[in-house]
Amino acid sequence: MIKLHDLYFKPFISEEEIAEAVQNMVDAIAKDLGDEMPVFVGILNGSFMFVSDFVKKYPKPCEVTFIKLASYEGVKSTEDIQRLIGLTQDLTGRTVVILEDIIDSGKTLEEVHRIFKNENVKDLIIATLFYKPEAYAKDFKLHYVGKEIPNKFIVGYGLDYDGLGRDLPDVYQLKTTQYMTNLVLFGPPGAGKGTQANFLKEKYNLVHISTGDVFRYNIKNETALGMLAKSYMDKGELVPDQVTIDMLNKEVEKNAGANGFIFDGFPRTDAQAKALDDLMDSKDSQINAMVALEVDDEVLVMRLLERGITSGRPDDANESIIRNRIKEYYNKTAILKNYYAEQDKYYGVDGVGSIEEITVRLSKVIDNL
Ligand code: IMP
Ligand code: MG
Repeated sequence: MIKLHDLYFKPFISEEEIAEAVQNMVDAIAKDLGDEMPVFVGILNGSFMFVSDFVKKYPKPCEVTFIKLASYEGVKSTEDIQRLIGLTQDLTGRTVVILEDIIDSGKTLEEVHRIFKNENVKDLIIATLFYKPEAYAKDFKLHYVGKEIPNKFIVGYGLDYDGLGRDLPDVYQLKTTQYMTNLVLFGPPGAGKGTQANFLKEKYNLVHISTGDVFRYNIKNETALGMLAKSYMDKGELVPDQVTIDMLNKEVEKNAGANGFIFDGFPRTDAQAKALDDLMDSKDSQINAMVALEVDDEVLVMRLLERGITSGRPDDANESIIRNRIKEYYNKTAILKNYYAEQDKYYGVDGVGSIEEITVRLSKVIDNL
């Protein structure tokens, strides 16, 4: 991943793939032109790298020149109109091949056609390395296309984002979500997970996704996914992971502009952890850390027994039930601890001390991510 100005981009087309696309264009054009000596016309600035590589590979004699897009204020003061400048050569009767780095809306191409209409060229051939069919809104024929790409902003290999990125030998694509810090929060019963989640949410402006809450919300509001989940629960069956993932996906999409998420109550299994990775990957994002509050069993038992006295929660009152819940927690999370530790993403945080002390320890971990 790279950052240019305020935006993040991910690797998209490698130097090797680009070289192959350029070579294919060279082969096709050289074959079609035969012994005709073409004038290759690059559209600056974006095409400089493409034109350079292209003509180096071109097997026969050719001429190379450039024209440039210039902005000037249009007749309507709000409208920024682009025009092409720099065509000084007489191209009467010549075979002209336009070499474009990218064709997007086709506005530039329209300008090219306008300029060449009066040049009495023999042939005007359009060749573009990259082409965004979904964005193209004109009818001009594109004779040679190196690579069709989706309608997303790219940089590198001559293409820039506000002046940066032209020098990169590979092409990068704008990430659909910008950089997020996503945490999976764990803690045994009584570790103070809820308290700390609330604090993290505030301090780092993260969205707390508690799977339990998401389920209750979907079922209460009778969403399609809620009804689907309920149909399994009513039969006493486990809700399939995909249903849960779909619900989480909705939550993530609802908050696409967030700084990140705290996942709470999910994943619980290896398969779920993998599914969560895939979900984040599909959003151009990632899980950065599994943060687990670590508290000694005896301390947990004492805390929960104390809580039982005031809360009246029956599962907090009985020591053997408490010990069982703690044991179950470790049985379940051990697998996930391994899963995230293998990716160097496991962070155990000492959960014994005052709320503020624990908060400071958590912040240290997150600030270092
Ligand atoms: P069009 O006139 O809309 O076809 O766009 C062509 C020009 O817009 C290119 O020459 C680039 O300067 C710029 N452009 C279009 N798409 C991109 C992109 O994804 N990255 C960088 N520049 C782009
Ligand atoms: Mg261009």
